[in-house]
Amino acid sequence: MTTATLDVHPGVQAFLDGGTKRLLIGGQWVDAASGKTFETKNPATGETLATVAEGDKADIDAAVAAARKAFEKGPWKKMTPSERGQLLYKIADVIEAHKDELAQLEVLDNGKTIREASSGDLPLSVDLFRYYSGWPTKIHGETTPVSVPYYPGGKFMHYTVKEALGVVGAIIPWNFPLLMACERIAPILACGNTIVLKPAEQTPLSLLRLGELLLEAGVPEGVVNIVPGFGPTAGAALAEHMDVDKVTFTGSTEVGRSVMRAAAGNLKGVSLELGGKSPNIVFDDADMAQAAKGMFMGIFYNQGQTCSSGSRVFVQKKFFDQAVESLATFAKKTVPGPGLHPKAKMGPLVSEEQMNRVLGYIETGKKEGATLVCGGNRVGDGGYFVEPTVFTDVKDDMTIAKEEIFGPVVAMMPFEDEEEVLARANNSVYGLVAGVWTQDIKKALRMAQGLKAGVVWLNCYQFVDAAAPWGGYKQSGNGREKGPQAIDEYTQTKSVWVDLN
Ligand code: NAI
Ligand code: MG
Repeated sequence: MTTATLDVHPGVQAFLDGGTKRLLIGGQWVDAASGKTFETKNPATGETLATVAEGDKADIDAAVAAARKAFEKGPWKKMTPSERGQLLYKIADVIEAHKDELAQLEVLDNGKTIREASSGDLPLSVDLFRYYSGWPTKIHGETTPVSVPYYPGGKFMHYTVKEALGVVGAIIPWNFPLLMACERIAPILACGNTIVLKPAEQTPLSLLRLGELLLEAGVPEGVVNIVPGFGPTAGAALAEHMDVDKVTFTGSTEVGRSVMRAAAGNLKGVSLELGGKSPNIVFDDADMAQAAKGMFMGIFYNQGQTCSSGSRVFVQKKFFDQAVESLATFAKKTVPGPGLHPKAKMGPLVSEEQMNRVLGYIETGKKEGATLVCGGNRVGDGGYFVEPTVFTDVKDDMTIAKEEIFGPVVAMMPFEDEEEVLARANNSVYGLVAGVWTQDIKKALRMAQGLKAGVVWLNCYQFVDAAAPWGGYKQSGNGREKGPQAIDEYTQTKSVWVDLN
């Protein structure tokens, strides 16, 4: 692939040239209390893109105090639901007006391709605000026909109100930085809460630019605070903060567990969107051309760095060899290159650490006896590129069939029949998503019923929408983001009694 990439957008250039990126606390851009900074890199080159203020506990404390103040008094509390909805709609417009700039910033900081950022991350980010802009005027309680058996003849009125929680902490991962942040900010604000965001240390830039745009759109000070920093310091301080009412986290299952433990101090609510080892199941009555595209998208989208990657591909015996051949052919044609190249189909992994983790899994796969059909190597030595990699002869109990790799590495395994594949698909500590390819509608629906996963795709893969709930079964997490379910996540119910006797 040629290395000629798109010209850097003037807005991106101005942002990168603008000096050290600071923390957004109480509507002001400030240095970290410690004065510390860290560097964020372009994973396509390994070069530093920007220097960023490194928040830790003291800055999280300041941000939570600002969020509390904005929640308890000031313009945010006085806004009507209609005004809140209009503000969310305006945020969507402002993001849309800067979509090319934000897409490029995401590519530079995360490594993803401009095609995926422009066609996926950005339109979805905008649409999340449009979808949730309709919600503030529709968050309501109910009147309840109570009976009160111990008060014969008594008359009561009872109603419920759905109220905001207060201050929500959001710990954001690096694989879809802007999109994950918008997925949290939109419903959290729709419900009337305020928020403290902790971007991933690998990818703080698009969120910091978003912070500028939120102020431009008119979000009152303190309503959205952004504190970049590292997990064990800034992240942990947010999760354990005694004045945070809820924490929402996306990332590794291990850190998810520690967030839950940290939340125990004040018993704050926790929603977790964690890892996966998702099955993508191809029956021999599937439309094979469609299934081949679905297998490819399933594992190689975003360099395989998706919680929903279809990393265990099960193919019914008759077409197994053909399926391996077609996925390997696609994979060999896909040479990773800089994401800013307009034709790039695959970019680098997010960091050197992630690249080494993925290459380590590839070595383990070979050592445990799996057969490497294609890929397996780093590409070049500047950026963090890894070839799309296909393994066969994989047993269900091998490391590469059990653990989340979070890179472009797929385990392809044959199966005999429906009952067998359902049991093997469900034999995982995870349960985030599952894909099924068959033209038999009854079989498809039986599988949808039997799969222990929070999302099931029938004859499609990797589809998401603002209106469709998202979250996992088992150790893939708890709670649901997106859709009406996120409104339940970020509100609490008050029960009000009125004596009419
Ligand atoms: P991670 O889980 O360590 O990081 C995710 C976020 O949590 C980042 O913002 C990080 O700063 C923060 N964090 C880290 N330690 C924390 C702590 N003790 N308390 C509070 N926040 C903390 O993920 P990492 O190390 O970047 O990647 C490791 C693996 O995690 C990946 O290989 C992948 O398997 C999984 N992962 C899954 C994601 C998903 O979308 N479900 C996203 C990112 C990673
Ligand atoms: Mg980590």
